[in-house]
Amino acid sequence: MKNIAVLVSGEGTNLEAILEAVDEKEITGKVVMVISDQAKAHALERAKNHGVKAQFVDPRFYESRKEYDRALVKLLKNEAVDLVVLAGFMRLLSPLFIDAFPLRIMNIHPSLLPSFKGLDGIGQACRYGVKVTGCTVHFVEEGLDSGPIILQEAVPVIQRDTVETLHQRIHAAEHRIYATAIDLFCRDMLKVEGRRCLIID
Ligand code: GRF
Repeated sequence: MKNIAVLVSGEGTNLEAILEAVDEKEITGKVVMVISDQAKAHALERAKNHGVKAQFVDPRFYESRKEYDRALVKLLKNEAVDLVVLAGFMRLLSPLFIDAFPLRIMNIHPSLLPSFKGLDGIGQACRYGVKVTGCTVHFVEEGLDSGPIILQEAVPVIQRDTVETLHQRIHAAEHRIYATAIDLFCRDMLKVEGRRCLIID
């Protein structure tokens, strides 16, 4: 059984979907801890409601990003974490962190990568006027939103969509594919060859 940690900064609807999937045994792993860089993140409450250890780690106590990340790595290694799941964690990770968990960090991004990288992927799609956008689960490597893609789901943009209405539709898709991608990892069914991530039996 794989040990999963989820890193969050905010609302935590993806965390909620992951915790529910674990409870329903749709993910064959265990969420051993949730870490937030924001004291007031609602995600921390969601973790506690599911009986999962939830910890706020205050970046202001560390003199650099590297030192903060070193502290996180230590916490995660202490819990023997196999997979780090970023679910709305609003900090860039340093190479120190990424190197500590090679191909064992996942992120979800609210666009069909490589389109609309970075902040506000949904707003970018609305402003560009695309007819189809979506969401992407990928492994995290150095470089913004650029690691091997695990799963994507397309979401249509409907006439008169606002950022809010499109956000709702993308969020629903995120909740589906994140749980699936995590379960594939937990079952050792993901194999990365170069940029391509294969799903193997
Ligand atoms: C999601 O839209 C995800 O794509 C992005 O951050 C958002 C987190 O939402 N990385 P939530 O906190 O899980 O509701």
